[in-house]
Amino acid sequence: MAGNTNVQGEDVKKLDVVSNELFINMLVSSYTTCMLVSEENDEIIKVGQEHKGKYIVCFDPLDGSSNIDCLASIGSIFAIYRYICREGVCDDKEVLQPGNQIVAAGYALYGSATMMVLSLGPGSGVNGFMLDPAIGEFVLTEPNMTIPEKGKIYSINEGYSYLWDETITEYVRRKKDPKVGKPYGARYVGSMVADVHRTLKYGGIFMYPANKESPNGKLRLLYECNPMAFIITEAGGLATTGKMPILDIVPEKIHQRAPCILGSKKDVQELLDLVK
Ligand code: AHG
Ligand code: MN
Ligand code: MN
Ligand code: MN
Repeated sequence: MAGNTNVQGEDVKKLDVVSNELFINMLVSSYTTCMLVSEENDEIIKVGQEHKGKYIVCFDPLDGSSNIDCLASIGSIFAIYRYICREGVCDDKEVLQPGNQIVAAGYALYGSATMMVLSLGPGSGVNGFMLDPAIGEFVLTEPNMTIPEKGKIYSINEGYSYLWDETITEYVRRKKDPKVGKPYGARYVGSMVADVHRTLKYGGIFMYPANKESPNGKLRLLYECNPMAFIITEAGGLATTGKMPILDIVPEKIHQRAPCILGSKKDVQELLDLVK
């Protein structure tokens, strides 16, 4: 524990702090950014004039804090936007762009190997780069990553099932009902990056839906839902709140949450059909 809580009321871990400082220092000293939004900073970080560039970066410096002490996989997530002065007026509100305005997004997963998964904008697809520690470089090992059309795994924190709405309850029931089809396997790491990366590689569905206590779920729109929705969409999958595409949400606050359901086209479509 670092000894403090962040704006979302979470207990901050030392690794959250260290990785956040690293992200901020690298981004500021890159001379390419003007405003940063981090999970660990209450307010927008404004880059000083002498370091200023034209991009906005929203990031989760360390995703999966609850998995640090047990050595399960953790990650980092980011989305990059262009800073545009509209009609000559430069406004802090520029950080509140919808995910469909993303210039590039990605994540790094610190798992059995370290991989960075990156998309360089709409229509450019998804590429995976594995860290080769021997040469200290990320090597393109997975060009043009695509998500299977349908998977065999569902991923949701089932401990909250008493809070689910009818749709999620029925969807998960169907995934386990041998009368409906071969039951799906359940996997849930509790690190979004690990759960989404598995979904991208193997197919299936990842859900952190709205529930009766959290009408917007838990995951944060700017630096968790949007970058992941962008990657999954670029890889040929779907990402929705259950009501609308995640990438179409116009943010109102930097730390706002959104329900997050993403994965293989057919698995997510099945949920959207149930919603109807
Ligand atoms: P973070 O460690 O950046 O605060 O994110 C934690 C998130 C995410 O990684 C994961 O999907 C989710 O919390 C798990 O939440 P539950 O423990 O409620 O399932
Ligand atoms: Mn956190
Ligand atoms: Mn996170
Ligand atoms: Mn985090």
